[in-house]
This record gives sequence, C-alpha cells and structure tokens, in this order.
Amino acid sequence: MLSIDIKNSKSSPVKFLKNIEKRHQDFYKVIDDKKAFEKIEKLAKKLKNNFKYFVVLGIGGSALGTICLKNALKPIDHEKLFVIDNIDPDFIKEVENKIDLKKTLFIVVSKSGDTLETLSQFFYFHKKIKDKKLDVKKHFIFITDPKKGLLRELSKKEKYETLDVPKNVGGRFSVLTAVSLFPAMLIGIDIKKIITGAQKMRNKFLSKDAKKNLPFLLAKTQYDFYKKGFKTNVLFPYSNSLSDFSNWTVQLICESTGKKSKGITIIKALGATDQHAQSQLFHEGPNDKLIIFFEIENFKNTLKIPNEIAKSLTFAKLLNIEKSSTEKSLQKENRPTLTIKLDKISEENLGELFMLFEGSTAFLGEFFEINAFNQPGVEHSKKLTKQAIINL
Ligand code: PA5
Repeated sequence: MLSIDIKNSKSSPVKFLKNIEKRHQDFYKVIDDKKAFEKIEKLAKKLKNNFKYFVVLGIGGSALGTICLKNALKPIDHEKLFVIDNIDPDFIKEVENKIDLKKTLFIVVSKSGDTLETLSQFFYFHKKIKDKKLDVKKHFIFITDPKKGLLRELSKKEKYETLDVPKNVGGRFSVLTAVSLFPAMLIGIDIKKIITGAQKMRNKFLSKDAKKNLPFLLAKTQYDFYKKGFKTNVLFPYSNSLSDFSNWTVQLICESTGKKSKGITIIKALGATDQHAQSQLFHEGPNDKLIIFFEIENFKNTLKIPNEIAKSLTFAKLLNIEKSSTEKSLQKENRPTLTIKLDKISEENLGELFMLFEGSTAFLGEFFEINAFNQPGVEHSKKLTKQAIINL
C-alpha cells in the first residue's frame, strides 16, 4: 500500500492523458501482456537451476531497474546475480573473478541492440566462453527489440534464446518488461506481485479524476514548484532498500525531462545518513528544492535499542522519528516537502512505485511541453563515440 501527502488539484488530467496516448508509448500497457509474462516465466523456470551465477550486461534503463529490485527485495538468491552496468575494466574483472564461467548465464539487455558499452561486454565474455570451449548458445540470452538492432540480428543468425523489449517501450520505461522481470525471477522475486502493484497504479494513472490520479497529482506538484523556482527534487528515502530506487528514478526523470533547457534536477539523499551530510544544505542553502521523502511504516526487522537510550525504542521507530523531525524543521524554514509512504518494502509496492514515477514522468513531459520519451542528447554522444572508434 502506498500513499502520498499531496493536495488535490483543480486541473484535470484528461487533456494530458490524450496527449500521452498520442505519443504511442506502451509502458502502461505492457503489464497486461499475459503471453509475454508466460514466456518470461517459462524460460526463467527452465534456466534457474542450470546455473550458479547470472550476469546482466546492460546499461541505463537496461540495468537500473534490475539493480533496484535485487537490492530492495534481497531475495534468497540475490547474491547469484551480478549487474555489469559499466565498462570500467576493474569492475568487469571484479565480477569475472567472483563467477565461474562454466556455471554462468549472461543476460545481454539492450533495447536498441546497438549500445557500444553492452556490445563490448558481450563480445568480451563471448570470447571468454568460446576460449573455454563452452557452447555460447547455452551461456547467453538476449533481451532486445523484437525486430531491430545487432543483438536481434545475431540472435537470428546464431540462434540465441531471446526475449523481447516491446517495440513502443524505451529503456528507462522498461522495468516492467523482461528487461528486469526475467533477471528478477531468476533470483526468486515474485514478478506477479510486481505486476499486480503496477496495475493498481496504472488504473490510477488512467483515471480522469485528478484526486484519484496519483501520478498526475505528483507531476502537478513537481511542476508547480518548478515554476516557482524549485527546480531540483531531492529523493530522500529513509530506507537503505530504496537507495537504488532513487538511482532508477534519477535516470527516468533526468533523461525524460531534460530537454529544451528545461527539466528537473535530482539530488539523491539517504535518511538518516544524509542528515549528517547533505541535510544542512537542504535546511539553509538555496531554497530551490522540493524534498520528496519516502517513509516505510513496517520494516522487516524492528531491532530494539537498549534502554540506555530510551524506553521501548526500536531502530525502525527512531528512523521514522528522525524523518518526521527533519520534515518539520525543513517546513519551519519554508522548504517544500512531500512524503511517499509505503506500508512495507514488497514486490507489490515496488510495482506501484515504478508505475507512479513512470506515469508522473509522462505527465511531466506534457507539463513541460517536451517529448519525455526521446533522448537526443544521449544519442548524439553515442554517435560521437562510434565515430571516434572508427577513426582509431
Ligand atoms: O532510457 C533510455 O533509452 C537509455 O537510457 C537506455 O536505457 C540506455 O542508453 C541503454 O540503451 P539500450 O537499452 O538500447 O542498450
């Protein structure tokens, strides 16, 4: 269960919903694709017990949702999954040293199928597997566009097992597809519950009634503050489990809204840790930030603190008291805040959260009058890198 302490709005989501529909993006439709989920489940069940290690090769939207799910939910098998989302050679080697190639399934994730970082990782491990005289077809699966890109071509030519990233779903909006659901299922995460949560929020996202449409109300609040000069949002979960959710959200909001000299800047913070680091800036620095708290009502562990500190105090209670105190003192300084409250960290709540932010980001695009679903700046730097390589 998820709630937000934001005000209702007099404006209606209807016009914005129509505009979003016209953009032909399926991020809120893919969660009804039963056939796709059956395929993910079937393949995950088949491969789950054949390998000791799973390594995702991907970057940006092809990796961040998976990292978030793994670290938020920490299922029993979470230590079997590694996500290589960078080309830092020391990082790649570090993972390589932890796995046994003979017992590893590599999941190569790229919507475009052409991303240089991901392809480099793929060819690196492909050679390693070949050098060991292992069957490459058994050690790699691709998650990519149904028709386009080098990975798709390779999968046809060399008959790799493949799952689809649906055509009208871009990288940062793909967490609720095979991109993250397949690796999640391999380590024992209940993907049906994620989908149930996402569907609940999707129904709110499609509601024409502003007071029921949480993604709309969130985006409206963010946009209204933006217009008043609060151009930065601080994502401030009081929960280590949600730390990587912030990373996922950073990409979603920054890459989607950062266009035409507009866009929301995100700062990541962690409660209570950042009360002793960034918090002073939030209290008395430039008053240009909307602080978005995340509060967990019930932690898996409460952990009693001995009576020397206070009677009947737990770490869970102390953390939430600290959150409320920080919130109150920020409000006293006229710093805007809002709180997204979760009853617990669960698959269902994460599904709701993903869809809440995907939906609100789509609305933000309409408020800013930009296309939230493209990334011309990123594409340009990708092109320059390719040219530089050709000229080597
Ligand atoms: O959101 C996006 O489209 C990007 O950030 C991509 O996720 C990122 O560039 C990786 O692209 P791909 O999945 O095509 O390899």
